[in-house]
Order: sequence, then C-alpha cells, then structure tokens
Amino acid sequence: MGGTDRRDGEAAYATNRIRVENGNTPKRRSHLQRTAQDELHDLVCIGFGPASLAIAVALHDALDMTGLSPDLSNLHGRPPKVEFLERQRQFSWHAGMLLPGAKMQITFIKDMATLRNPRSEFTFINYLHENNRLVEFTNLNTFLPQRIEYEDYMQWCAGWFEDVVEYNQDVFQIMPEKSPRSNGKTDTFVVMSKNTRTGEITSRKTKHVVIAAGGRPSIPKPFPQRHPKVAHSSQFYYTTPKLLKDPQHPYKIAVVGSGQSAAEIFDNLHSHYPNARTSLLIKGAALRPSDDSPFVNEIFNPSRVDSTYAQSPRLRAATIAEDRNTNYGVVRLGLLERIYETIYTQRIRYGSSPAEEAKWPHRILPHRSVTRVEDLSASPEGVKLYIRDESPQYEFGAPVGEEKEEVMDVDVVFVATGYTRNVHEELLSDARGLMKGGAREGAKWEVSRDYRVQFAEGKVSEDAGVWLQGCCESTHGLSDTLLSILATRGGEVVKSIFGSEVD
Ligand SMILES: Cc1cc2nc3c(=O)[nH]c(=O)nc-3n(C[C@H](O)[C@H](O)[C@H](O)COP(=O)(O)OP(=O)(O)OC[C@H]3O[C@@H](n4cnc5c(N)ncnc54)[C@H](O)[C@@H]3O)c2cc1C
Ligand SMILES: NC(=O)c1ccc[n+]([C@@H]2O[C@H](COP(=O)([O-])OP(=O)(O)OC[C@H]3O[C@@H](n4cnc5c(N)ncnc54)[C@H](OP(=O)(O)O)[C@@H]3O)[C@@H](O)[C@H]2O)c1
Repeated sequence: MGGTDRRDGEAAYATNRIRVENGNTPKRRSHLQRTAQDELHDLVCIGFGPASLAIAVALHDALDMTGLSPDLSNLHGRPPKVEFLERQRQFSWHAGMLLPGAKMQITFIKDMATLRNPRSEFTFINYLHENNRLVEFTNLNTFLPQRIEYEDYMQWCAGWFEDVVEYNQDVFQIMPEKSPRSNGKTDTFVVMSKNTRTGEITSRKTKHVVIAAGGRPSIPKPFPQRHPKVAHSSQFYYTTPKLLKDPQHPYKIAVVGSGQSAAEIFDNLHSHYPNARTSLLIKGAALRPSDDSPFVNEIFNPSRVDSTYAQSPRLRAATIAEDRNTNYGVVRLGLLERIYETIYTQRIRYGSSPAEEAKWPHRILPHRSVTRVEDLSASPEGVKLYIRDESPQYEFGAPVGEEKEEVMDVDVVFVATGYTRNVHEELLSDARGLMKGGAREGAKWEVSRDYRVQFAEGKVSEDAGVWLQGCCESTHGLSDTLLSILATRGGEVVKSIFGSEVD
C-alpha cells in the first residue's frame, strides 16, 4: 500500500465526493432490520462493496413482493437476520482511483437491479429520477456514466441499508462451530472482526456467510510491499497530494503496467503535473484496446455463467485466456487515443528524432521490466529503478540489438499491476479441515454453480454454509470480478441461501 496511511487518504478524499449532504435529504430505509450482535444471524456478509450491495438489494426486493417470495421460503415469513461487515468507514468504491472524468466501463443497465428486476426502486434510472437528473442525464446521450456518478449511485443504494451495515469492521477469521444438536456437523460459523478505529474485537454467530471481499492490490517483486515512494494504483488518489504536493514541480515519475489503471494514471499525471517527466513502463510493445465489441461482450451475459461452469476445466481455462483482453492489461479505446494524441503533440513541440524523443516529458517505454528497486528514501530522489530494456531486439529498420539495462531515478513509482483475489483463503484457514478432498497442501476452495463452498460430505449441516463472490473467475468466467452480472447474481445468492427448504 505504498506505506501511506490509507485512512488519512480516505479522509482527504472524502471532501471530494460529489454528494453534498445537506441534512434535509430524507433517509430511505430498506426492509432489512437490525439484528443484535449476540443473536444467531441467518447471514453475515463480509465486505460491503458492489457484490454485497447487490445481495442486499435483491433481498430487499424479495421482501418487497406481495405474499411470500419463493426465494425466501426458508424464512417462513419472518424477517431475515442479516448483517454486512465492511472495513471502510463508509461505502466507497475503489475511491483511490476515482479520477475526475473517468468513465464507467459498463452500461448503467447492468446496475444493482435492472437485469433482475427493471421495476426495482434500486435501478440507476430511479436513482437519477430521485436525484432530479433523469432528463439531463438523458441529454448526455450515453450508457457510460462517470465513475463518480456511479459511485454516488451505489452510495445512494447503500444508504438504504445503514441499519444492517457495520462499517469499520475488518473481518479476520471465520470459525466453524458445532452445536450439541448437530450430530457432529458444523452448523454455525463465528465471524471475527476488529474495529479499525477502536481495535475492539467482536464476534457474530451465523448460519450462512458470504465472502465478498474483492481484490487485494498486487505489488509484484521486485517492488517493495511497503515503501513511502512506491504506491499501488489503488492508492493513487490518496497518495498524490502527499507525494506530489506541487503541481508545477518537475517530478520524475514512473508508472508500471499496461492496463486501464496505468493508462488513467499516466493520463492524469500528464494533465495535472505539466512539468513532470512521466515514464510509463510496459512489458509489451504497445498499449492495447479492450475488446468490448458486441459478439465478444456476450461472455458477460448472466446466462453465460451456466455454460461456463458446465465446461471442462481445460476448455474453460482456454476460453478465459482467449477472452482476457476484454478486461485485463487493456485500455478503453477512447483513452488510448487521447494518450496517443498527447504523445503526438510532443512530436510537434520537441521533435521526433531518438535524441529529441529522449527529452519528451511523457514517454511510453515498451519492452521494459523492472528487475531491481533500490531505496533512495534518504535522498530526495525516491527510488532507483533497474530496468531490463528489451526494445533493441524489436526495433524496426535497425540491426537487431542486445537487450540493455537502464537505470532510472524517480521521485515516485505507481505500480498499476492489478489485484489478487484470495482473501477467502485466509479467512477460511480455520475451516480447511472441512475441505472437500481434505486439506491438502495448496488445495483451493471449490464452489458449486450457486457459489456455495463445497465442504466434504457430511461435515457441514445442510442449513449452514459459506458462499464466495468475486473470486470464482476460474469456474464462473470473466464476469465474476466485475459489475456485469451483479443484479442477477445477487438474486441467485439470495435464492440459494433463503429459498431452498431444509428439514
Ligand atoms: C478502478 C477500478 C474501476 C473499475 N471499474 C469497473 C467498471 O467500470 N465496470 C466493471 O464491471 N468493473 C469495474 N471494476 C472491477 C471491480 O472489481 C468491480 O467494479 C467491483 O468493485 C467488484 O465488487 P466487489 O464487491 O466484488 O469487490 P470490491 O469493490 O473490491 O468490494 C469489496 C469490499 O470488501 C471490503 N473488504 C475486503 N476485505 C474485508 C475484510 N476482511 N473485512 C471487511 N471488509 C472487507 C472492501 O473494503 C470492499 O469495500 C473496476 C475496478 C477498479 C479497481
Ligand atoms: N475507469 C474504470 O472503469 C477503470 C479504471 C481502472 C481499472 N478498471 C478495472 O479494474 C480492473 C483491474 O485493472 P488494472 O489496470 O488495475 O489491472 P490489470 O488489468 O490486471 O492490469 C495490470 C497490468 O500490470 C501488468 N503487470 C503485472 N505484473 C507486472 C510486473 N511484474 N511488471 C510489469 N507489469 C506487470 C500486467 O501485465 P500482464 O497482463 O502482461 O501481466 C497488466 O498490464 C479491470 O477490471 C479494469 O477494467 C476500471
């Protein structure tokens, strides 16, 4: 996390939200009611990001139905005892990358409700209506809102659930438990969390757990995991005011990666630090566009999860690899074209010869890999990067050259190298003895089509269980980490937990 205090950053950011609370806005409340901490819960969800929010919305909508919804048959008409535990101090969606002007990568129709129930109160259209912007939004003529508006939409949805969300709760362990009446089977789970402000540890007992903890910033070797001058892209908006205080200063900055985050950061630095020298270090030959063409985009249809799950593991892995350029290591075409224009403008201003190019303030350096990072934190320089430069092997019109080593001193390096999604492995470490096939070294948790963790036969009672969200890409396909299917998936999870009668 770049060694920077995340909480400070969040505080700094909070003033930048688009919503200005005036105290007069009436609070909307969902059908979900608060449950005392010491009561046995029906469901505890870990993390209150978009995936859990979609579950909350689907549960509200199911309770909204006149008569008993078949999706809630397990409850026999009583209200569900549900709680969401979130470590952030308020609902916040990748706020460290909430850059001005950044657009959504998905149509607003794939909001928290529409694809499951277009008549739900939680549609993006209803949000616009309730916030008096429906007509003006229509005039924008777009399906892609700004990210700040979509975050505001999700905050608006989240506001309905304040009675059932505990913020500042960092969950660190889920422990299986057996009651005297359970015939030796696990029939509840104890969710342990720490209050991020007070340090207080609390526990909640529940029949069902959903882990929807999202991704963790991935900082690959050789970058240090914690260093004041090395920041992951997820912290960009928090760290820049501290690391790059003076917008006019001629900072030397490196950005590593060739995905959307790297491109947005490179573009943002160009606009906000006009005198800085910014180098975008990419492994490949060029920035590449994300494929969002309509036929390919069908992989994000909710119905595709069935066929993906049913495929053989070998075919599924091959298909996911083939479609990777819809999401990973790629850039939206519009942004890519804008960056090309920025680079082209430098050709006009500074010239195009290799010697002139070396003086450009903003450069994309292809075929580069950082091999070593040396700490210069005692000096004002920040860090020294040792970089393998393989570009001479690819140069056109010149005899093929040897790779070179390049050394670059920078004030700051932004590592836009993506995320890993394995929080559940840590949280479930106490439950590994219940794993299907036994707790073999390196064994991973497996889920069924309805996202329910497959425990070993007879180990966990039918009326209890754990569901995983957002970490099932290898079995459920590329939509798993995204917003694409959240409305329908939220409904599926509600049905899976509350809809199947168990004796
Ligand atoms: C900058 C950025 C922009 C994106 N834009 C798009 C887009 O336009 N379209 C799209 O489809 N996808 C987009 N994505 C992909 C993104 O994964 C999804 O939008 C979405 O955030 C997934 O929701 P989630 O709830 O699974 O995970 P997250 O949004 O990561 O939410 C997980 C939540 O769990 C909390 N948490 C984690 N661990 C714990 C714990 N131990 N205890 C308590 N709480 C915990 C976190 O604080 C977080 O609030 C974007 C991703 C990034 C990084
Ligand atoms: N406006 C928006 O909506 C918005 C903004 C930002 C991000 N996002 C979303 O957020 C998700 C993550 O995007 P992201 O850009 O953060 O991550 P990403 O797509 O996973 O890209 C990570 C990049 O880092 C590179 N990389 C990984 N390890 C490296 C190493 N050791 N050295 C050099 N490069 C390395 C990867 O290269 P390889 O692929 O070659 O390994 C890849 O180019 C995506 O879903 C994206 O669409 C959306």
